[in-house]
Amino acid sequence: MTALDLSSPVAVVGTGTMGQGIAQVALVAGHPVRLYDAAPGRARDAAEAIGARLDRLVAKDRLTQADRDAARARLKPVDSLAELADCGLVVEAVLERLDVKQRLFGELEEIVAEDCLLATNTSSLSVTAVGGALRRPGRFVGLHFFNPAPLLPLVEVVSGFATDVTSATRAYETARAWGKTPVACADTPGFIVNRIARPFYAEAFAVHEAQAADPATIDAVLRECGGFRMGAFELTDLIGQDVNESVTHSVWQSFFQDTRFTPSLAQRRLVESGRLGRKSGRGWYDYADGAERPEPHTADKEQPPAHVVAEGGLGPAAELLTMIREAGIPVREEDEDHGTRLLLPSGGQLVLADGQTSAEFRDVVYFDLALDYRTATRVALSAAQDTSPRTLAEATGLFQALGKDVSVIGDVPGMIVARTVARIIDLAHDAVAKGVATEEDIDTAMRLGVNYPLGPFEWDRRLGRDFAFGVLDEMHEREPSGRYAPSLALYRHAYATDKREGTS
Ligand SMILES: NC(=O)c1ccc[n+]([C@@H]2O[C@H](COP(=O)([O-])OP(=O)(O)OC[C@H]3O[C@@H](n4cnc5c(N)ncnc54)[C@H](O)[C@@H]3O)[C@@H](O)[C@H]2O)c1
Repeated sequence: MTALDLSSPVAVVGTGTMGQGIAQVALVAGHPVRLYDAAPGRARDAAEAIGARLDRLVAKDRLTQADRDAARARLKPVDSLAELADCGLVVEAVLERLDVKQRLFGELEEIVAEDCLLATNTSSLSVTAVGGALRRPGRFVGLHFFNPAPLLPLVEVVSGFATDVTSATRAYETARAWGKTPVACADTPGFIVNRIARPFYAEAFAVHEAQAADPATIDAVLRECGGFRMGAFELTDLIGQDVNESVTHSVWQSFFQDTRFTPSLAQRRLVESGRLGRKSGRGWYDYADGAERPEPHTADKEQPPAHVVAEGGLGPAAELLTMIREAGIPVREEDEDHGTRLLLPSGGQLVLADGQTSAEFRDVVYFDLALDYRTATRVALSAAQDTSPRTLAEATGLFQALGKDVSVIGDVPGMIVARTVARIIDLAHDAVAKGVATEEDIDTAMRLGVNYPLGPFEWDRRLGRDFAFGVLDEMHEREPSGRYAPSLALYRHAYATDKREGTS
């Protein structure tokens, strides 16, 4: 099955932010494009706005004048749906309301040819529901572009219950022919990206609500230790707290209030008080002129320990042992079956975040998971109230000797990065088990859709198959609301028999 022929006109219905972007993509790919909007004059305005964007591409040498002129000639705003009769694909990007979208597709079905592909750009409604009233729902598909559509490569191609394989494949190939990176997914709440990304926001907010760290510190740890492009607080301020919360709320509701997706009370308060982020001048942070950006907590300089004893290899943090030696601190390694840790001269222990809390042990400091301990510029530590100050000082000095800034946070299980990554990995395994998408498509979607430094499965392979399960299992024991309960898929993955090695 091939992509839609370039001679076949593409219609975009609803010419707001997304409609304009999608129309530009189809136009630059070479299709004749029709624009329709219910608001009088808006399709014409959209055509002008798209024309102006093409001019900017010419100015930046990314489009030739001849191609711009040809594209402009192919772009046509229309005044009625009837003028879309000869289109081979209609992409709908009208307001996010089921009744409005259903009514629109009901009208379109009477107008377009039998083989015209019908697509919705909905981000939170069920594709099955939007196409549910159609006489021929087999040709109905979700084409979920990301904003801004001309720049972001990812397109989720969503098959509703009734979508036929031919239509899904044609939509997929068409998106690819338009220079996009399509991923195939089933019609479940949030599709791939908006489902699996929820913990990135939720866990940061939860750590803050637990009084363990302030937004600036959590953001800095997510960026400088976790390797995420932005922290959850600054990112949601950019997206808009109302927009981000409404996605969370919609996914939570659509999953019948599944506790794994419970929205944040603190974010609710922000939205209620109009602190929507950059667009309202204030969100988690203050954007008023002259407002100071709060600094993350960064520990004062401490002396590094004279030596350390490493038990059990440190698992995903094993690279630290080489780095500590390179920093001139002697490391004595001892084999240990029960757990992995660094013993400090104080008699205290330094342990990688594992979902337990420092308070449960004598003199333990936890350190957070890093994407890569070599490139990380910051590491978070957490200690219980009765952890000895000397142990915390030695742990701090150790990471400082490796060139890291150290943020000391409160004693929360799973710290910041470890709990976030563990939950993302869990939701990814759960999604594959439920037939939402393949591992490869989920990795692609999370890297391209939300800029994660690694896809969840790539991350999981790096950490070892039982790391995420271990963190969540311990967290679930301490907070048995269901929010941290590892999925059956993650459980199976953690305990899967490695047949090649013959272990069990
Ligand atoms: N904005 C985003 O970041 C984003 C990202 C992905 C998907 N989406 C989805 O794309 C769709 C559009 O979102 P948007 O942000 O572009 O909205 P928008 O408000 O910018 O534009 C919507 C347009 O649809 C028009 N419209 C409303 N009802 C109509 C109808 N019955 N027939 C024709 N036109 C109609 C409006 O006049 C308006 O111009 C929504 O379903 C949204 O969930 C949005």
